[in-house]
Amino acid sequence: MQTRVDEIADKIYRLCTLMPGAGGSAGFTFNQFLIDADEPLLFHTGMRSLFASVSTAAATVIDLKRLRWITYSHAEADECGSLNDWLAAAPQATAAQGRFGCAVWLSDQALRPPRALADNEVIDLGGKRVRHLSTPHVPHAVDASLLYEETTGTLFCSDLFTQMGDAPALTDGDVMEAAIAAEKVYGFTSLTPRTAPTIRRLAALAPRTIAIMHGSSVAGANTVPSLEALAGYYETQLRQAMAD
Ligand SMILES: [Fe+2]
Ligand SMILES: [Fe+2]
Repeated sequence: MQTRVDEIADKIYRLCTLMPGAGGSAGFTFNQFLIDADEPLLFHTGMRSLFASVSTAAATVIDLKRLRWITYSHAEADECGSLNDWLAAAPQATAAQGRFGCAVWLSDQALRPPRALADNEVIDLGGKRVRHLSTPHVPHAVDASLLYEETTGTLFCSDLFTQMGDAPALTDGDVMEAAIAAEKVYGFTSLTPRTAPTIRRLAALAPRTIAIMHGSSVAGANTVPSLEALAGYYETQLRQAMAD
C-alpha cells in the first residue's frame, strides 16, 4: 500500500491510502490530514496496519520529531488506532481531544497524558489556528468532535461526506450523490435531533475547504451548500424514520 500526499490548502496536506477491496470492489480511501505550522498537527492517525505507510508519507512533509499535536474525531481504529505509534515516533507530540473523549478513552489509552479541549477552544499552532468543535454523535460516537482551521477556513469533518472508491484529492464539484450512496450502504451516521443542527453549525463557519476522511475533499463554492444539503438530507431521514 502506498500513501499519497496532496496539499489541499495552504500547508495542509492530505495523506491518502487506497485500500483495494475494502468497502466493495472499488476500494476505500483512508485520509489523514497534516497541518504544517510552527507546531504541526495531525488529524486522524489511521489504523495500526497503515502506520508505516502513513508515517513515511508524513515524513516527506515534516520531520516527525517536530510533530506537536495529534487529534482525531472519535475513538475508532481508522481515526486513532495508531495513536501510540505516532506518540512513540514523535516525542514532542501531545494527543488532544474533547473532555468527554479524554474521559471515556484517550486518558486511559494514550502513552502520555492528553490535553482535554473545551468546545470552541483554540490551539494556536503558530501560523495556523485550530478550533475544537464538540459534535457528539456527528458523524457518530458520543466523543465525536471536529476541527476547524481558521486561517485557511478548512473544516476537518471526519466521516461526514464519506465516499466509496478512489477519487481526486480535491474537487470543486458536488459530492452529495456519492455521499448519499455510501450512507445507504453503511448507514454510518448517527441520526439524532442534533444531527442537522450540528451540521448547520458547521455550515455557519462558511468553510472554504472541507477535508473529508474517506473520499475527495471539497473546495470552492460548493462547501456551504454541501453542508446545508447534508443537514437537510439527515433531517428528512430522521422525519421519515419517526413517521414510520
Ligand atoms: Fe468513524
Ligand atoms: Fe473514518
